[in-house]
Order: sequence, then structure tokens, then C-alpha cells
Amino acid sequence: MMSVCWSISVLLAVVVIAAEVILTNGSSKCVARSFGHDSVVCECNSTYCDSVGSASLPPLGGFTSYLSSRAGSRLEVTQGQVQANSSGAGVRLTIVPQQKYQRIRGFGGSMTDAAAINILSLSAAAQDQLLRQYFSGEGIGYSVVRVPMASCDFSTRLYTYADRPGDYGLDNFTLAAEDVNMKIPLLQRAQALSPRRLDLLASAWSAPAWMKTNGALTGKGSLKGRPGGKEHKTWAQYYVRFLEEYAKYNLTFWALTTGNEPSAGRLTNYSFQALGFTPEEQRDWVALDLGPALQASSFPRTHILILDDNRLLLPHWAKVVLNDVHAGKYIHGVAVHWYLDALIPAEISLGATHHLYPEYYLFGTEACAGWSPLDRGVKLGSWARAEQYAHDIMEDLNHYVVGWTDWNLALDHTGGPNWVKNFVDSPVIVDAKRDVFYKQPTFYSLAHFSKFLLEGSQRVGVSASEETRLEYSAFIRPDNSVVLVILNRSPSEIQFEVWDPAVGYISSAAPAHSLITLGWNTS
Ligand SMILES: *[C@@H]1O[C@H](CO)[C@@H](O)[C@H](O)[C@H]1NC(C)=O
Ligand SMILES: *[C@@H]1O[C@H](CO)[C@@H](O)[C@H](O)[C@H]1NC(C)=O
Ligand SMILES: *[C@@H]1O[C@H](CO)[C@@H](O)[C@H](O)[C@H]1NC(C)=O
Ligand SMILES: *[C@@H]1O[C@H](CO)[C@@H](O)[C@H](O)[C@H]1NC(C)=O
Ligand SMILES: *[C@@H]1O[C@H](CO)[C@@H](O)[C@H](O)[C@H]1NC(C)=O
Ligand SMILES: *[C@@H]1O[C@H](CO)[C@@H](O)[C@H](O)[C@H]1NC(C)=O
Repeated sequence: MMSVCWSISVLLAVVVIAAEVILTNGSSKCVARSFGHDSVVCECNSTYCDSVGSASLPPLGGFTSYLSSRAGSRLEVTQGQVQANSSGAGVRLTIVPQQKYQRIRGFGGSMTDAAAINILSLSAAAQDQLLRQYFSGEGIGYSVVRVPMASCDFSTRLYTYADRPGDYGLDNFTLAAEDVNMKIPLLQRAQALSPRRLDLLASAWSAPAWMKTNGALTGKGSLKGRPGGKEHKTWAQYYVRFLEEYAKYNLTFWALTTGNEPSAGRLTNYSFQALGFTPEEQRDWVALDLGPALQASSFPRTHILILDDNRLLLPHWAKVVLNDVHAGKYIHGVAVHWYLDALIPAEISLGATHHLYPEYYLFGTEACAGWSPLDRGVKLGSWARAEQYAHDIMEDLNHYVVGWTDWNLALDHTGGPNWVKNFVDSPVIVDAKRDVFYKQPTFYSLAHFSKFLLEGSQRVGVSASEETRLEYSAFIRPDNSVVLVILNRSPSEIQFEVWDPAVGYISSAAPAHSLITLGWNTS
């Protein structure tokens, strides 16, 4: 019902909005459209898309500021001079470079079947435009792509790569048409556009039905038998076979997770693909099956990330798995999803896990807007959702997370396709009929981080002179330049001054409901 009303209001909005508003004067400007929400989308087509360009910083003594706001700015760039003296105005944010925290791995999104279907529904030129927006040097710097292994809810059918019952040797393991005809060619094109090697990340939703206690891809079920048994061994080998098949297309994976949301298939009669694990079962499966299988394969350096589920399961889940040296020696990190983040403070989940296990990194592997029953589906131009993204990314980064991966890279205006109608929002919404795509406010939220926090950037301390409603996070990049991201979710402008003892003072103001990335060189 919700989505039907939605389509009608979207149609009306398109008809009513006549004039295009040009908002910024960067290298190419946002063609803004309003669909009746609290802000605008930027429309792109086969020949035009707004871009922030290469975003290089001015020489020592200057700074650059990028602003996006509910009022309509989108990565609007201004430059200024760092001052020798304080203006004394507003809250002072002091950079504390001697307080050093985690180093950034990267940011990205997910090449689901639905994302691939939507991207490929555009003309070839518009497809390129869309991929360039995420992956090229002029794009927003995505370096991570999560790739579902076989089907998930964002597929149009249920399948795995080994659906022949009893195929313990995986003799009939075969990639699907979705991989060969859609996801793989798109990943290859993204890689070709990217100035760096993409970090591909694989997650499986369900094992083949015949390996499972419930004999189905959906519902409540786990692997038959015990860790070390033949189903568990075959399921580990399935990951290796997946890596082998993708390698034939010159696509190698940085990491794999132990499986999407293991709590889903464990606790409830889940409506879409799931495979239940308790933390104890996951620990033993890694120690006895997955870890050894990967070590013995052609891909022993592939990282293993555990959990791949909501962070409220931390630190308990990590304690069970990582306290075990037999499992822990194969594991590199802990992957978290953002759903239900509001229920548990980041400090007692992420912070506690980091302090217990500082040698394992924390990584965000899934997030999307429009998932909650109270705020469902696509909302074109929602700044409120841009704030949800920016707030969560910043909270994660301020609690040791080294990267953040969005869910579907692109969806249609209904928030699909999704075979169980679990429709959600995406930073890019495709309208195949008009051969255009809309960059949502969430796209720019991600960009404020992904474009600027290059791999290897290290978070450093920031100290505020007084209590403030600003949220902030600062980083020193590998070339020693500093990047400070500032979020103002409040309804008023907030005056602030940045003090970097290495260079001086930057006086500025964060407009109501805005996101700012400041950058400057220190040498
Ligand atoms: C934007 O345009 C104004 C007026 O034409 C100009 O002063 C300013 O430098 C421009 N900004 C950028 C980033 O090009
Ligand atoms: C693409 O968008 C630009 C800017 O709005 C417009 O000038 C151009 O005509 C559009 N191209 C096509 C093929 O629709
Ligand atoms: C900056 O402060 C110093 C010492 O406090 C003072 O001597 C100098 O005149 C000030 N410079 C400016 C441009 O206000
Ligand atoms: C499975 O593989 C075997 C041998 O590789 C082949 O003979 C058989 O036709 C395959 N079965 C299916 C259902 O694909
Ligand atoms: C494989 O991909 C890498 C980039 O990931 C590229 O540098 C290399 O040329 C590719 N090799 C082939 C044979 O296409
Ligand atoms: C689980 O849900 C499916 C529909 O999603 C239903 O057909 C099935 O009967 C349910 N099973 C149990 C055990 O409740």
C-alpha cells in the first residue's frame, strides 16, 4: 500500500516541478529536483552528471570546505586562508594529532542482483555515468564492493551455486546468470574506472537447501551436523569454489564474511534467505572448516570477517569467537550492520569490542535507509536520511570502525526489485523509463567521507572548547593533510573555529542541517 501511494506522489511531483535549479558552481553542478520531501535529489542522465572533480587541496596556508545541506548545497566548494590568530568566535575544535586511533580501509556499496538489474536498465552511456559517480577519480572514491554470494532478498529468484542435492564434492557448482551476465561485467567495468584496486567483499545469505536442517533457503535453519562434519566442510569449500570462479574473471576478493546475519536464521522463521549460526557454531566452523579450507586454497590471504550482523550482538559474539585461539588465528575483523544501532550505545558495543580485541578491526558491511516499518521504502530527496547516514558513519568512525559499506548501489523508485518486497532506499535511484538516475542526499553524505578519507588515513583527536551540537571526526591522511568532517543536525547555524596547532585557525559556520568536510595541507 505504502509503495503504491508513493509511486503516485512521485509521478505528481515530477509533473509539477517545472524549473531546474542549478545549485552549485563547482566543476559541474547539481541539476536539482524536488519530489516533495525536505530536500532535493540531483538528476543525472547519459550526457550529464554533477561532479566534485578531483577535490585536491590548496597549498599550505589555504583550506577547502565542501558543504552539503538540507537547503540544497551539494558538495559546494569554497576556499579560504588559514589565519594566524583566533577570531574568538564560536566553539573551538582543536585538532590533537598526538591522539592517534584507527586507520581507514575504505567505503563502498553492494553489487546485489537488484543493483545490477537497475544499473543495466539504463542506456550504456548512463550506466557508465553511474559507475563513474561511485568509482572513477572524479567520483566519490568508493573502493569497497560487497558482493552477495548467490541470491538474497534483493534478487528476483531463489538460487545458490550448488542446488543439486547431495553434491558434497561441489561437482555441479556453477555461478548464476546473475553473476556471469550482470554482476561480473559491472564489477569489471567498475574496476577499470577505479584509480585503485577495488576491495571486494563476499557474503553468503544461505547455504544450499540440502545442506540445511530445514531443507530450505529461507526460514529458521542451520547447517546439518556439526562443525568438522561433511556439511560444514562442504559449506567452507563452497566459499573457496566461489573465489576460484570469480578469479577466472580476474576478480579477487579482499575479504569474505562468515555469512550474512547469522542471528536471522537462528532465531526466527525468517522470510528470506538466511543461515543460522550461534557464535559457538561460527567459532568452531571457522576453526575446523573455513579457516583451514581457505589456508589450503589459492587464496590464503583473503581476510575472514566474523559476525556480519547488528552491532548490538557485540561484544558477546566477539568474545565467544575471538577468545578461541583456534578460530582467532584465521580471523582479521568483525563486520557490523547498522540496523538497531539506536538501541545500544556505540561505546558498549564497538568500543568495548575494540578495547578487548584491538588486533581485530571493525568494519561496517551493511546499512540502508527506508528499512524500518515506520519509515519504509524510497524517499526521493530526504535530507533526514542523509543525516541518519552521516551520524552513523561518524559514530562508527569515532568508535574504531575502519570502513563503511552501503547496501544496494542502486534501486528503482519502488526500492526494489526484492522478491519478498523488503523494499528500501538507496543513494542512487534509477528511472529506466526516462534513462536518468537520481543521486539522493545519502549519496552526498557518503561522499563527504568516502571522497576524502583515503585508505590509510588515521583518525586523530579533536577537542571541543565547550559543549556543542556539532558532531565531528578528524583524520590525518597519508600525505599529512588533515580532513575534518562536521555534521550539524540542529535547526540553527552553529559558528565554529578550527585550530590546528600545526597551521593556525579556520573560522567558519555550519548552516542548519548541514554536513561539511574541511581539508588543508600541513606541509
Ligand atoms: C563560483 O562562482 C562565483 C561567482 O561567479 C565565483 O566568485 C567563485 O569563485 C566560484 N566558485 C568556484 C568554486 O568555482
Ligand atoms: C542531460 O541533462 C542535461 C542537464 O540537465 C541536459 O542539458 C541534457 O539535455 C540531458 N541530456 C539528455 C540526453 O537528456
Ligand atoms: C596576532 O596576535 C599577535 C599576538 O597575540 C599580535 O601581535 C598580532 O598583531 C595579531 N595579528 C593579527 C593579524 O591580528
Ligand atoms: C553435474 O555434473 C556432472 C559431472 O560434472 C554432470 O554429468 C551432470 O550433468 C551435472 N548435473 C547437473 C544437474 O548439472
Ligand atoms: C586484472 O585486474 C587488474 C586490476 O585489478 C589489472 O591490473 C590487470 O591488468 C587485470 N588482468 C587482466 C589479465 O585483465
Ligand atoms: C514459516 O513462514 C512461512 C511463510 O513465510 C510459512 O509458510 C511456514 O509455515 C512458516 N513455518 C513455521 C514453522 O512457522
